[in-house]
Amino acid sequence: MESTIIVEDIDSRKLRGGYYTPQPIADFICKWAITEPAVRVLEPSCGDGNFVEAVIQRLLEIGVPENELFGRVKGVELLAEEAQKSKARAANYGLNSTTITNADFFSFLAGNPAERFDVVVGNPPFIRYQNFPEEHRSLAIQLMQEMGLNPNKLTNIWVPFLVLSAGRLNSSGKLGMVIPAELFQVKYAAETRVFLSRFFERVTIVTFKKLVFKDIQQEVVLLLCEKQVMGANGIRVVEITSLEELENLDIAAVQNCDVKVLEHDTEKWTKYFLDEAEIQLLRRVRNDPRIRLAGELMITNVGLVTGINEFFMITQQTAEKWGILPYTKRVVSRSAHFRGIKFTEQDFLDNAVAEIESFLFLPPDEDFDLLPPACQAYIRYGESKDYHKGYKCRIRKRWYITPSVYEPGGFALRQVGDYPKLIVNETDASSTDTIHRVRFQPEFDAKKVALSFLNSLTFAFSEITGRSYGGGVLTFEPTEIGEIPLPLLNNDRIDFEQVDALIRERRIVEVMDLIDRELLIIQLKFTAAEVKQFRCIWKKLSSRRLNRK
Ligand SMILES: C[S@@+](CC[C@H](N)C(=O)[O-])C[C@H]1O[C@@H](n2cnc3c(N)ncnc32)[C@H](O)[C@@H]1O
Repeated sequence: MESTIIVEDIDSRKLRGGYYTPQPIADFICKWAITEPAVRVLEPSCGDGNFVEAVIQRLLEIGVPENELFGRVKGVELLAEEAQKSKARAANYGLNSTTITNADFFSFLAGNPAERFDVVVGNPPFIRYQNFPEEHRSLAIQLMQEMGLNPNKLTNIWVPFLVLSAGRLNSSGKLGMVIPAELFQVKYAAETRVFLSRFFERVTIVTFKKLVFKDIQQEVVLLLCEKQVMGANGIRVVEITSLEELENLDIAAVQNCDVKVLEHDTEKWTKYFLDEAEIQLLRRVRNDPRIRLAGELMITNVGLVTGINEFFMITQQTAEKWGILPYTKRVVSRSAHFRGIKFTEQDFLDNAVAEIESFLFLPPDEDFDLLPPACQAYIRYGESKDYHKGYKCRIRKRWYITPSVYEPGGFALRQVGDYPKLIVNETDASSTDTIHRVRFQPEFDAKKVALSFLNSLTFAFSEITGRSYGGGVLTFEPTEIGEIPLPLLNNDRIDFEQVDALIRERRIVEVMDLIDRELLIIQLKFTAAEVKQFRCIWKKLSSRRLNRK
């Protein structure tokens, strides 16, 4: 099939996920994957041929004569123009144009059901499901289902590329691909993680401390999978600084790195950045009945959705100017508006004085004609700006009434930089959807829960339950907050006010020392060495993430 399917109005390079692989990466992967001459290699989305050429060079390097290259490499590429470039590169080594097939990879698979390979290398496109041309999408999904998988609608095209090309490997095959680091943590890749853990005996992942693709923010890893291994089965993660280091990386040394047991579950893989002793410690905690999950102590939900913050979220000054202050609700809209582990009247007033948008316009839930004139005037102003036509507002019975405006007992930050934050709400303020709302279960004291949260064990786990996508930020969905292990203090020896004051002075380490001692050492009888390990895990994972800023 020739490729004229590109949708015109989206940047075509982005749409086809066409960011080509830097040569040192293609060379490294080929060097790792191709160790003997008698192999057949597949490149499922070869672009202009960086991998194709690296495969050929690697084959020549290990002694394949040029006149025996034919049939050893197969490239597939959707775009005719790019396929042509790959063909030209292959032709430089005497390979004829059948080396590269200009087609959609999934159609290629469907049309060649018996094709098998010893090695797969490549860098599949990264395109979200909705931008993924329908005809390719349905075929990819169908082929995955035939393999017994259940891809969901949020999937990304790299998933079927990875899984389906793996499915075409011979029994001792190897796969080396450039894959988004999202593989480690996103929900849509959970099934892929399980698949890889079962399908391959060993998975090696090379990660970079700095981003390696110049044009894109996307963090990538090198995924190296082996179907049959002589030594230990499992997973290992090798972290390197830069492309230069990759060029000098000794493959034998990588093959000798410690391999950790790979669990066949849907959990995130972030924990494999840790060493085996650290993983074992976390595993013990997971099975420790004394340690609850945050979700048992509190319910976390998203904040309110205004539909158009520009209109609904206003400063005190704007509210007064329009005469609508009595028709507002107090709301926190930015993480930076919290300073301690409690949110007080004074905090709210300070925000209001600083002209921060802390007021949600919330007129009575009545028809327009029955509303006070000031509210009518402000709504008319909103309509003059077409704010009522936005999707969220349009589907409401009355566009100007923001639903679900309740006051939570606490707040949990959706995105954090340094550490996860749980704050007790002492005001009647709610929050927008940049901040999660928390309802503490009535049998637990909110202040005690918030204090207990500030320990090294909880922080260590937060790095594994949350997700980070480059840029340094750690993000939590409400369910992910609920999954964080959170042991609860059983006494009142720690002074909430004192801790709040310390947090306001950014003295988090002192606070953690205090809570770790009381909660982890005295109460739960962890050893000082174990507590130090929790602290190290937190530090290791958070610095890794913050390094990517
Ligand atoms: C990230 S680029 C990588 C190219 C090459 N593998 C490299 O590493 O330099 C992804 C390539 O996949 C191609 N592509 C996108 N959809 C495809 C499909 N359905 N079948 C085959 N190739 C496809 C794009 O045109 C693009 O050239």
